[in-house]
Amino acid sequence: MSQVKAKGLDHVAIAVKDLEQAIAFYQATFGLELAEIEEVKDQKVRTAIFGHGLGRIELICPTEPDTSVAKFLDKRGEGLHHICIEVDDIEACLAELKQQGAALIDQTPKIGAGGAKIAFIHPKGAHGVLTELRQGPKKP
Ligand code: CO
Repeated sequence: MSQVKAKGLDHVAIAVKDLEQAIAFYQATFGLELAEIEEVKDQKVRTAIFGHGLGRIELICPTEPDTSVAKFLDKRGEGLHHICIEVDDIEACLAELKQQGAALIDQTPKIGAGGAKIAFIHPKGAHGVLTELRQGPKKP
């Protein structure tokens, strides 16, 4: 049995071509609350997050061509890009995946939005779905 405990689905991320248009769709159609828009310079994307806590929706839109999300859109069009699982110990989870020989994109955690530790598992290592692991900052 794994020592890693997942807290649940943190977010699903959808790659879109026009962020403002997609935001308008999700607001108008579902009445979802836009929590924030953030430019992640590191990954050359702008993101829009709907909701708070677990189960959020993240829209991601490339800011430059020839980046990973731009290539995804060119090849596959808009659609589900990744899911993100919130775990209590991201290092332990990565260690376990390495032991299993799973294909990892990030061998060690990076710092993502809001100071969370994040790491991506290649779809080959997670049943065909690009999977982000996230460990949020400890709440005081
Ligand atoms: Co994400």
